[in-house]
Amino acid sequence: MKPVWILPVVAVVGVVGALAFAEAPAADRAAAGKRAFATVASVLQSPRCRNCHPAGDAPLQGDRGVPHAMNISRATVAAGVPCTACHQERNSEAIGIPGGPPGAPHWGLPPAKTPMTFEGRSAGALCEQLKDPARNGNRTLPALLEHVTHDPLVLWGWNPGGKRTTPPVPHAAFVEAFGTWVASGGACP
Ligand code: HEC
Ligand code: HEC
Repeated sequence: MKPVWILPVVAVVGVVGALAFAEAPAADRAAAGKRAFATVASVLQSPRCRNCHPAGDAPLQGDRGVPHAMNISRATVAAGVPCTACHQERNSEAIGIPGGPPGAPHWGLPPAKTPMTFEGRSAGALCEQLKDPARNGNRTLPALLEHVTHDPLVLWGWNPGGKRTTPPVPHAAFVEAFGTWVASGGACP
């Protein structure tokens, strides 16, 4: 005959086990989100993205990220020369002017009030900034995922024209990592 204490013990072990089981997926999601953000950050920090997300008011050029030629900055835009005076909706090669300005729809810098700086930011700092509505253009995490999936300036990074390098992972892998991060609720490294 079974001792009477065994039933409550089995019950308690069962409840604790069920709780642990319910916790595990959340902890796994957070760990996966943090890992995925390392991939996301490697893209944000790459030249094609960083050059339009500078710490200062001037866009950067090339893999070394030197300030844009001709003193171009938010000030030249304010003075009446939009970026689109030179940057067309397609790369210069696509419109028959090899070596000219790269192009994609709505070419420009993020607004001065929310500059969305990627230049010089660690993965942890980028993560906190990206999910802060005051600093990300008031976007939810799903809206950010939508942005990185479809925005023409983001897509341009993988079709930059000339001899420009592309980000370290394919766009699909970047979007997948971004989705894993969003599913984790924005877990930061
Ligand atoms: C030609 C300049 C340009 C390039 C190149 C560019 N961006 Fe942006 N990016 C912008 C502008 C402008 C905005 C703000 C648009 C808005 O708020 O609607 C923005 C906004 C964003 C946002 C949303 C706001 C936030 O949290 O920062 C993300 C994410 C982003 N860019 C990622 C990227 C990635 C990834 C790349 C490279 C693959 C990239 N961008 C390349 C100009 C650029
Ligand atoms: C007077 C013409 C002109 C204006 C105005 C202009 N650009 Fe450019 N831009 C160019 C040319 C030409 C290049 C190509 C040089 C090169 O290969 O880096 C270029 C290159 C760039 C690059 C380098 C791409 C890369 O990743 O290496 C970025 C980013 C850029 N421009 C952003 C901007 C932004 C943002 C504005 C508006 C604030 C702007 N430009 C205004 C002519 C212009």
